[in-house]
Amino acid sequence: MVEIFDPIGAIYKEVGDEKPFFDLVDEFYKGVENDLILRPMYPEDLTDAKRKLALFMIQRTGGRTTYSDERGHPRMRQRHMPFSIGLNERNAWMKNMMAALDKVPELAPHKETLTEFFESFSTFMINKQP
Ligand code: HEM
Repeated sequence: MVEIFDPIGAIYKEVGDEKPFFDLVDEFYKGVENDLILRPMYPEDLTDAKRKLALFMIQRTGGRTTYSDERGHPRMRQRHMPFSIGLNERNAWMKNMMAALDKVPELAPHKETLTEFFESFSTFMINKQP
């Protein structure tokens, strides 16, 4: 069997703690709360959205699999279909995530890998032409 190295899946072990992922998500949603493009897309109470994103990131980086235990297969593109995501929404999401990433020192060694992941994943979520 050919082993394919998945740099994202190796991050959790190196960070070794969940807190930085919860911090990242907290910072991200602080940005979302003040974002005129994104805020209206999210529910008023962000508690659940925060928890889901944190658990998704913990799972995707190689940590516990509570996200899929609770939600099943991620099917992210399908889960984003109810929201109209064009380039503006994608760029707003990226802007807030990049600002959040800069606020979590424990994730700094993984900034490049995470940035590449968020860049491509957010582009993949686009489901609306301009
Ligand atoms: C491209 C721009 C994006 C927009 C506008 C967007 C917007 C949203 C919205 C409105 C929700 C619903 C929140 C809720 O009701 O709880 C959601 C859920 C979610 N998003 Fe995004 N998202 C984007 C990209 C991404 C990316 C790149 C990721 C992963 C890195 C991601 C991960 C998630 C997760 C894990 C959920 C929860 C899914 C579930 O289990 O229900 N999103 N997103």
